[in-house]
Amino acid sequence: MIEQACVEKILQAAKIEEVVGDFVSLRKRGANYIGLCPFHNERTPSFTVSPAKNIFKCFGCGEGGSPVHFIMKHEQLDYPGALRYLAAKYHIEIEETQLGEEESRQRSEREGRFAVNEFACKYFEHCLWETEEGKAVGLSYFYERGFSDAIIKKFHLGYSPEKKDALFTEAVKAGHNKQYLFDNGLCFETEEGKVLDRFRGRVIFPVFGISGKVVAFGGRVLKKTEHTGKYVNSPESEIYHKSNELYGLYPAKQSITKNDCCYLVEGYTDVMSMHQSGIENVVASSGTSLTQGQISLIHRFTPNITVLYDGDAAGIKASVRGIDLLLEEGMNVKVVLLPEGEDPDSFAKGRDSSEFIAYLQQHATDFIHFKTRLLLDDAGDDPVKRAALMNDIAGSISVIPDAMLRSVYIKDFSRMFDISEQVTAREVSKKRSRKLSDAGKSVPVSRPSYRPVQPVVDMEGKSESVFAFKEERNLMIFLLLKGKETMDIVLPDGQTLCLPVEEYIERSMQDDGMEFEDPVHRRIFAELKAGVRGDAQSYFLNHPDAEVQKAVFSMVDDNTAYPENLETDKGLSYYVQRAVLEYKSRMLDRKARDLQQRIKAAGNAEGIAVLLEEQKQLLELRRRLAKVLGGRIVSRV
Ligand code: CTP
Ligand code: MN
Repeated sequence: MIEQACVEKILQAAKIEEVVGDFVSLRKRGANYIGLCPFHNERTPSFTVSPAKNIFKCFGCGEGGSPVHFIMKHEQLDYPGALRYLAAKYHIEIEETQLGEEESRQRSEREGRFAVNEFACKYFEHCLWETEEGKAVGLSYFYERGFSDAIIKKFHLGYSPEKKDALFTEAVKAGHNKQYLFDNGLCFETEEGKVLDRFRGRVIFPVFGISGKVVAFGGRVLKKTEHTGKYVNSPESEIYHKSNELYGLYPAKQSITKNDCCYLVEGYTDVMSMHQSGIENVVASSGTSLTQGQISLIHRFTPNITVLYDGDAAGIKASVRGIDLLLEEGMNVKVVLLPEGEDPDSFAKGRDSSEFIAYLQQHATDFIHFKTRLLLDDAGDDPVKRAALMNDIAGSISVIPDAMLRSVYIKDFSRMFDISEQVTAREVSKKRSRKLSDAGKSVPVSRPSYRPVQPVVDMEGKSESVFAFKEERNLMIFLLLKGKETMDIVLPDGQTLCLPVEEYIERSMQDDGMEFEDPVHRRIFAELKAGVRGDAQSYFLNHPDAEVQKAVFSMVDDNTAYPENLETDKGLSYYVQRAVLEYKSRMLDRKARDLQQRIKAAGNAEGIAVLLEEQKQLLELRRRLAKVLGGRIVSRV
């Protein structure tokens, strides 16, 4: 448990634009910021951050809430986990009321698994820098490759000892759950039941997720003679989806935003060498072709990507196809071809950063031109090959979502191949409509690392949701937004009584023995009555219970409950009273319906008579209410 005072300190420190800004590149728009939503796939920003309200909201998928909610959702953490995350971000020391066993039990499994990776990362680093074996084998290898101490430390490189279960033994000794070591793929059991470290005898490249947690490891073998693959990587798991991670993204984020551009390379060592050359806005796809998830990850920070290719043609042609995916996502794609026989790692060696940067700037070509040149060389004068090539390029142009950009390329294309623009345009639009109708048939691929957004439960849903009962929700909105404000009530004797809105609502409900139906509403109301610290809105938006956060967010966000000009129009009192009446009327409706059923079901005449009498009273009450609601409002309820 985290001390309450500490929780408050964290909540006060957490600024929504800063918390979200670690994951999404935000642009200022008026008083707010906008960016691409991390919770659903989009190309044009509908994700809004309001510093004034300290909340975010996506108009595309409906997700929204406080900084705590953002972290819970984005990092898939529970409430204490999100608080710990924010505490670390804002350098707030956490005072836990209980420590040790109790705490570790409370940690969610997810946190436990990350803790194991964190431990392993530190252990491998320790072995690299502090042990004879590590220094002699691992560190000397990195030095040989020209990496500086600073870069080795920046990327937290490590060494996993030859001893078959060195990590396992240490981790268990340190109190980590054995199962997590297996789940994360750090260790495995042989058929004879022996435990082995997966990365033993290798140098280690930890892979950091977008929030800086260690999600996986890559281990490179040192002796070239071994039969095993050059790299061994962590297997896919609950916390590691290879297709949704990019090597180097975490240390690159700020530089990508600053330069509004991202370089894409192939491997671990390419990323590190470029950093050593002073180029930090670089990520690696780790040898495989880029996935949709990885592309949207980059797109959150910039729409501009420059792909660096080694100077060997075979590799390029294979990966060129993957680049259509980047165009499709609406990215501006440039390509740099490195000199024959060089990869970014080797190219960086012996060149200072200004030389490297100059080369990149001089040789960056836009993707369509690059592809044309590349394939044109190949096709030569063969008309069939040329036609196939034109088809291919027209296909690439057709996936670009921006119409303006498409037409620029159509012009270029026509010039390059000496074809009329109309013919090109027709070809492109034909491909485009075919592509779109294909897309319509297939089910969109969702990204597995995020849970889908909860659908809004419909009105007649079995468990009535927050959205179900409009009148009840309206009352809650008044409680949350205006609860502390005062309202005037004219009593039957003509006297005016002034009382807080929350008290008025509470009394009105008590008078008729009514209770909120929605369990979440009941909980909020109970806490409000008991008194919450500080501002009710921000208290509930940062509530430990995600259901409460969600419900309150949707209410705070909803301005349909009462007119904007409430203060200047009829006054708060009028609207609160009307909301109470509407609520009661709705409740009476329900009771009446309920009675009807019971009358139908009742067996004996006596029972029915009692029920009928009840019904008569109800109907009378309803009639009176309806009259009030239909016309002017009375000051007495
Ligand atoms: N890779 C991998 N498994 C392999 C080979 C490659 O996961 N068996 C990934 C690694 O992320 C690697 C990237 O693909 O960094 C590029 O491969 P390669 O160019 O062979 O590796 P380099 O990073 O260049 O490593 P080195 O220079 O040490 O050979
Ligand atoms: Mn290499």
